[in-house]
Amino acid sequence: MIYPANEESLRIAAAALRAGEPVAFPTETVYGLGAGAFNPRALAKIFEIKGRPRFDPLIVHIAGLETLGDVVDLEALAPGVRDEVRRIGEAFWPGPLTLVLPKLPSVPDLATAGLATVAVRIPVHPVARELIRLSTGAVAAPSANRFGRLSPTRAEHVAEQLGDRLEIILDGGPAEVGIESTVLDMTDRPRILRPGGLPRARLEALLGPLPVSGLPVSGPSGELHSPGVWNSPGLLTSHYAPRTPLYLHDSGEMAGLEYREDEGYLFFSRGHGEPGDRGGALEVLSDEGDSLEAAANLFAALHRLDSLGLRAIHAEAAPPQALGEAINDRLRRAAAREP
Ligand code: TXA
Ligand code: MG
Repeated sequence: MIYPANEESLRIAAAALRAGEPVAFPTETVYGLGAGAFNPRALAKIFEIKGRPRFDPLIVHIAGLETLGDVVDLEALAPGVRDEVRRIGEAFWPGPLTLVLPKLPSVPDLATAGLATVAVRIPVHPVARELIRLSTGAVAAPSANRFGRLSPTRAEHVAEQLGDRLEIILDGGPAEVGIESTVLDMTDRPRILRPGGLPRARLEALLGPLPVSGLPVSGPSGELHSPGVWNSPGLLTSHYAPRTPLYLHDSGEMAGLEYREDEGYLFFSRGHGEPGDRGGALEVLSDEGDSLEAAANLFAALHRLDSLGLRAIHAEAAPPQALGEAINDRLRRAAAREP
């Protein structure tokens, strides 16, 4: 059930977490499905509720830098790296950034899929941080969607996908960032494992140029693949996927499409050939082409187009600057077909 996030519902949700029951809660990126990070039985329930076919590592959410040492083995870091982690934390936390760091033995294998590292994030959303503080101090949470499906940026998105499997969904309003956190591996040389809500350029301003790696679907920085590659079956990892088949196009191609009543159109901005009167099946993520605004609207727009029973959704790729990199990552995965 959806509860407006207030003092009373926060108390009830925190008690549920302490008792080992998962709770969905708002963050500034997407809604999370949380469980006490130190409780393996509670963690197992997350995978069951999401229908994940295997155990993927989760992000552990903490309320402030002072509790980083509760989950991360700071001693295992070289002193230089420890300083760098502190600088990054002070610059970008709380915020849409996740750091991968060596874990302490107290973090269960289920939270990290048996890895020696743990992914940690301090969210900005006050409801998230209050919930973490009131409950177990560290809350492991993947996005609160069924496995492989669209991430939720509103409480109703969570209810649609998981409402029958979950007692408590805290409603903290629409997610302001709207796209998952940037995941930065700090165990070796810093590298981005997943582009996300913190733009690459902001990290690079502090850390210098970062390599892109680890993602089967990402080209070198800023590169846009040819549309043929985007649509190739089996090449990409399907994820963040609407049920309606999605095709990704660059701007030029969108203008050349023949419009159909039974297909939907997702434009990044105006002025790239979108027709004026597509009625219900047209979404423009940002009139002015602002990638922050576009990211905030992305999943809600996809949820809506996906609910219309269309034959196909055509999506326009974003220019790769700022949050465009993360938007294109999600769209490529949404366009990927399982082999
Ligand atoms: O914004 C977000 O990050 C949201 C909100 C709820 O905080 N959470 C989220 O969680 O997107 P999830 O489970 O959907 O994605 C977690 C990502 C995955 O790409 C996973 O592979 C990576 O983090 N990850 C987690 N632990 C890791 C580890 N130890 N090493 C490398 N990658 C890890
Ligand atoms: Mg997810």
